[in-house]
Amino acid sequence: DMGGHDTYMHKEIHEQADAVDRALRGRIDDRFSTVHLGGLNLDARDARAVRRVKILGCGTSYHAGQIGAQMIEELARIPADAEPASEFRYRNPVVDPDTLYIAVSQSGETYDVLAAVQELKRKGARVLGLVNVVGSAIARETDGGIYVHAGPEVCVVSTKCFTNMVVSFGLLALHLGRTRDLSVADGKRIIEGLRKLPGQIEEILANEAQIEELAKEYAEAKSMMFIGRVRGYPVAREASLKLKEVSYIHAEAYPASELKHGPLALIEPAMPTVAIVPDDELLEKNRAALEEIKARSGRILAVAHQEQEKADHTIVVPKNEDELDAILMGIPLQLFAYYTAKAMGRDIDKPRNLAKSVTVE
Ligand code: M6R
Repeated sequence: DMGGHDTYMHKEIHEQADAVDRALRGRIDDRFSTVHLGGLNLDARDARAVRRVKILGCGTSYHAGQIGAQMIEELARIPADAEPASEFRYRNPVVDPDTLYIAVSQSGETYDVLAAVQELKRKGARVLGLVNVVGSAIARETDGGIYVHAGPEVCVVSTKCFTNMVVSFGLLALHLGRTRDLSVADGKRIIEGLRKLPGQIEEILANEAQIEELAKEYAEAKSMMFIGRVRGYPVAREASLKLKEVSYIHAEAYPASELKHGPLALIEPAMPTVAIVPDDELLEKNRAALEEIKARSGRILAVAHQEQEKADHTIVVPKNEDELDAILMGIPLQLFAYYTAKAMGRDIDKPRNLAKSVTVE
């Protein structure tokens, strides 16, 4: 039942405030400015013994893992990175006993992720799951984990589950941080930021009409560039994947800092750029990148916390804590992908050549 929506994608985009609310429910501990994650199976001593975090997933779940790795580094100061599960499993990785491995998956059935988990377990590693489907294969094979509680996701293209994965990583980063050096004051600040998310998601979705207009305009492009820096880069990658999947428009994501090392050669009026521009310590650097694009007559659509003078259009999103901004900045671009695909008459819930869960190699 699509409850008045024309597609599951549209319905699921609109379910995100409720979904995030569910991910937070019952987990926040105001007394100690931390969160409780029941199924984690990692006591404070284990948490303090973690020397590295390695996050594994595919597609959108891998992108959620990239944001998660940044949050864990920032809030818990543990070196962390994400890698596609398929790459990891084919390169005979060094499996380290002091590393905490985290497998991320909506379905909990993705074969490459499951195979990576099994290989890690065989080598004696500690593996947690960050999974949506309760009781799925990956949830069963891991030593513990976090359910992301996004609810059933029907559209082949992941939206609300991505958001809940990133929120769940925020919870995990806060939890790990508070077993280490994150202060009570910073813990409080992050909790306040998390609590603001559902309301801020509603604000973003209330801006739907502007996004629809922009999508119609940009749907004429043959190709689009997505850029971001540090926190904005995985957001750019995910937005680029979303657009490709549903509209079949070619899109590339690059770190804004890499533009002048090659992709700037592609910039011209027919190649629009979508730029993620958070109001954080990198704002001026991002503005400089917009200027470089403008100087080559590139069209720019910015997603930012305030109007960007150099951009042709800005989608303004509400500001949260710097460490949590990545959770919100991709949401308008889910709608952008949806409306672009709609303008092009695509089969939005079932893009060609794709399946909801990839249970083969
Ligand atoms: O079920 P999973 O999260 O393990 O699936 C991973 C990818 O196949 C999935 O995210 C894919 O990239 C989606 N089509 C993204 O919209």
